[in-house]
Amino acid sequence: MKNNDRSGFLLTKGEPELEKLVRETLDDALKTVKRNTKRFNGNNNYPVQVYKNGVYDETDGARDCWTQGFWPGQLWLAYEMTGDEYYREIAEKYVGHMFDRAYNNYMLDFHHDIGFLYTPSCVSAYKLTGNETALRAAKIAAWSLSRRFRPKGEFIQSIGNEFDENSYKFIADTMLNLPLLFWATEETGEPMYAERALKHLNTTMKYMVREDGSSFHHFRMDRATGEPVKGFTWQGYSDDSCWTRGHSWIVYGLAIAYGYTKDPEIYKNFCRVTDFFLNNMPLDPEDLVPYWDFHFREGDVERDASAGIIVCCGIMEMAQFVSPEDEKLKGYIEKAKKMLKNIIERCHVRSERGEEGILEHITDALPQGVGEVCEPYGDYFFIEALIRAITPWKSYW
Ligand code: GLY
Repeated sequence: MKNNDRSGFLLTKGEPELEKLVRETLDDALKTVKRNTKRFNGNNNYPVQVYKNGVYDETDGARDCWTQGFWPGQLWLAYEMTGDEYYREIAEKYVGHMFDRAYNNYMLDFHHDIGFLYTPSCVSAYKLTGNETALRAAKIAAWSLSRRFRPKGEFIQSIGNEFDENSYKFIADTMLNLPLLFWATEETGEPMYAERALKHLNTTMKYMVREDGSSFHHFRMDRATGEPVKGFTWQGYSDDSCWTRGHSWIVYGLAIAYGYTKDPEIYKNFCRVTDFFLNNMPLDPEDLVPYWDFHFREGDVERDASAGIIVCCGIMEMAQFVSPEDEKLKGYIEKAKKMLKNIIERCHVRSERGEEGILEHITDALPQGVGEVCEPYGDYFFIEALIRAITPWKSYW
């Protein structure tokens, strides 16, 4: 099981105009990252969800938040692209904080967002620089995540403990926490991590993904029997709609799992969910910024550019492993090019605006009252997508 192959797939190959646009956008995005380091300087301080007037809310590591790994992740991307030790020094301070948190088991046993926290902040650091503290932190994190696996029902419980009937469920977002488990097997040689990840993936495909390739956001299981109970939503429009970002986590998660396993069944499932995503974009074919829930296909409704960019990353990930002659993949690549261009042109917050966010039009959680904003995960995946489009990037995931 290795995820190190890099065929050098570049989305911009043979597309000089797109390449120019991506390079300029990346340069500009990194200017914003640099400016943000003045405030988020490694002192255990993180930009988090609340975003007003171009400024992120700030938390320290004492307030656990699933998005906190994405700021150090941006620093590692910036370090990788520029070679500038300035970024590395700040990013290493965050490694220290993330290690303390893992070592003290701070909130690690409470939720599944461990992969979001530790892959961009620590697996990245270890892969890029061999940082031993990052390695230890990521191993502890993977161990904690693996302990959320419930044999009865074969899934990773998203939140709460195994005795809580109400929390006996899994969610779409977990699909992008699984890479931490695949990585842990690759790194330690212990198969348990990847086995649990694959069981969770299969349960997701069996119950969460519907016949038509759409998905529920949450899925409840029976604690006593492990039997499926029902799907429902939390961040989406309704229980029977499909929440766009949740679906994008499934797309990208499957692409990464395919990289680790090369299992043709996973590719088939990737095609099912990617087809649903791409076939349910806005009705106007020139408009490739997805609405926040697939219930909407036109009108003045909130968008979720982060979901589009996460799917672009998923397609670029998959394109490394599948034959360029594959007809399905060719179609996805054409769509990913247009989607990336659309998102750059309409959603990139250019540095001259003087704001902290880099990608706008992200709907974090509309039912919970957080409409279109910038988000650290949007900024992170935007930069990752830009880098992937022009360089043979070795994934942190
Ligand atoms: N918790 C992951 C998300 O909101 O997408």
